[in-house]
Amino acid sequence: MDAREAREFRRVKILGCGSAYYAGQLGAQFIEEVARMPADAEPASEFRYRNPVIEKDTLYVAVSQSGETFDTLVAVQELKRKGGRVVGLVNVVGSSIARECDGGIYLHAGPEVAVASTKALTNMGVAFALLGIHLGRIRDLSPADGRRLVEGLQRLPEQIETVLKDEERLASIAQRLASAENLFYIGRTRGYPVAREGAQKLKEISYRHAEAYQASELKHGPLALISPEVPTVAIVPDDELVERNIGALHEIAARSGPLYVVTHPQVDLGEVQAEVITVPRNETELDPLLMMIPLQLLAYHASRALGHDVDKPRNLAKSVTVE
Ligand code: BG6
Repeated sequence: MDAREAREFRRVKILGCGSAYYAGQLGAQFIEEVARMPADAEPASEFRYRNPVIEKDTLYVAVSQSGETFDTLVAVQELKRKGGRVVGLVNVVGSSIARECDGGIYLHAGPEVAVASTKALTNMGVAFALLGIHLGRIRDLSPADGRRLVEGLQRLPEQIETVLKDEERLASIAQRLASAENLFYIGRTRGYPVAREGAQKLKEISYRHAEAYQASELKHGPLALISPEVPTVAIVPDDELVERNIGALHEIAARSGPLYVVTHPQVDLGEVQAEVITVPRNETELDPLLMMIPLQLLAYHASRALGHDVDKPRNLAKSVTVE
């Protein structure tokens, strides 16, 4: 698509399954924030059954590590049948979804061997960031802001290395999380897809029941379940919502809920008692990418602590290529 054609799109709809769907939510948040286009993500498995209205000024994006997930492939075929334009963010070159799409971005994450998506997931976030910067720069995103975000992306590899160096401490925290039967993961706006993916990872490979909630929704129900037996992993980036997020931590602490907070060094949690996991600060729009990394390590070590097969979790397939 050249710039003139890409400018015709008024909104973005992202489709994927499992972790790819959560990466899509992360991508939608980024695109709406940076390109100022309405953007949202939906499970491809739902989209394909609900006889969706396909709009000619919507750019559809199919995201998939394997490029073979049947629900996502059928969703792409359905929207193409109705004249939709779809690009693919796919890891496996030449896969069915990649070939079905009108074009796309390959993730170049290398072979993702385990069932649970980790490096491919991170690369999905990076690919969405590149797409968002591109769509933004042919609209109102300034050259300076475009450069700021690209330089932020270039800092990611070394910052991910920094997070990986904290693995020993994350493993000890994971052992405590592994003993809980039920856990909450909470985040707000940019942090919510991170919480959803963190809960997904823990469920997938440790088989513990982890539920993600918007931090703002906590008081509308889930708070009833907070107790000393129910730990909460909270995503608290150093952004414009940090005070509100700390407010949610107070609500949990007041009910003796154990807290594990993924945050930035610059954030002061005050008198909130919590196990704090810090990641380096990048650009506000890109911080969610880094905050997913410690959650992947927590899930990995929780699974190891429980003696499970991290790479081949029970009941799950690497890619569901059939109905
Ligand atoms: C599920 C896997 O079957 O498919 C998940 O268990 C994965 O880990 C989801 O995220 C989507 O797979 P893909 O290959 O389309 O990204």
